[in-house]
Amino acid sequence: MDLEVKKIAVIGLGNMGRQIAMNAAISGFDVGCTDADPGCRESAKAFYEEYLASRVTKGRLTQEDADAAAKRLHPADSIREAAEYADLVIEAVIEVLDVKQKVFRELDEICPERTILATNSSHIPSSQLASVTKRPDRVCNMHYFNPALVMKLVEIVRNPQTSQETVDTVYRTAERLGKVPIVCEREVPGFIVNRIREPMVFEAMKLADMGVATVEDIDKAAKYGLGHPMGPFEINDLTGLDLTYTIKTERYRKSGDPNDLPGILLSQHYLKGEYGKKTGKGWYEYGEDGKKK
Ligand SMILES: NC(=O)c1ccc[n+]([C@@H]2O[C@H](COP(=O)([O-])OP(=O)(O)OC[C@H]3O[C@@H](n4cnc5c(N)ncnc54)[C@H](O)[C@@H]3O)[C@@H](O)[C@H]2O)c1
Repeated sequence: MDLEVKKIAVIGLGNMGRQIAMNAAISGFDVGCTDADPGCRESAKAFYEEYLASRVTKGRLTQEDADAAAKRLHPADSIREAAEYADLVIEAVIEVLDVKQKVFRELDEICPERTILATNSSHIPSSQLASVTKRPDRVCNMHYFNPALVMKLVEIVRNPQTSQETVDTVYRTAERLGKVPIVCEREVPGFIVNRIREPMVFEAMKLADMGVATVEDIDKAAKYGLGHPMGPFEINDLTGLDLTYTIKTERYRKSGDPNDLPGILLSQHYLKGEYGKKTGKGWYEYGEDGKKK
């Protein structure tokens, strides 16, 4: 028997978390949400207001539905306040193992026994978070894609201790969120989508580092030669160069293989704080309206 999820909590309201929270509220769930950074909590609130208003203006939501979604969102100042009554918690904090483990320890203390603790991490397998809790059977990856309000896929990744009930509950909840869930039965690096996509992105960065072609032309190659809707650099500007840099650095730290180091251009952008669309500049530059200049 799977659990009927009514209340969802989202921890971490950066790029992904605020979209995940918004999607859950629009889909009819009560949503507690918080971030460690007060500035981010405030900008998430502004995002909710702007997003709902724009959906109404575009005729995608009625004013009544937008008001109801806004009422279901409960911004909180602490993890306790956001998650203490949640049936499902989706953690979307920065991609740093120690930070995520600390959040999971706290959630395990706060949340009722039934609560499922899911991580949106793209690379950290949930077994590394389950191990700091007393409920490893109720821990899994619930991996959204960016932009989470648009992209349909959700990868549910089972760790060796994840119960079938947990997988079934998260699967059914993802469907109620309007998503298309798939189950990754083993914790393989990159899960399914990134496992397919990453070699292409890293190869594209290598080609740009080698001066073989410009970033623009490599993106054109993917779009007009492979039929991809976006080029690898355009996608990377959306997902965040900081995230890619962290992933590469972590991988190198574990493997010691120089091939795993972040490339020259990626490192240059990272060191200048050019993380992509969210900072107004990454591989491309973006205007105030978020459109490519
Ligand atoms: N960016 C993507 O395209 C993408 C796609 C799928 C999954 N993910 C995953 O989602 C997660 C978040 O990525 P993002 O791109 O939204 O990052 P982000 O940097 O935009 O947001 C992370 C947020 O976590 C907050 N935070 C840090 N420590 C915290 C704590 N202890 N408690 C509460 N909040 C805390 C930060 O203040 C920040 O607002 C990562 O695990 C990443 O792997 C990202």
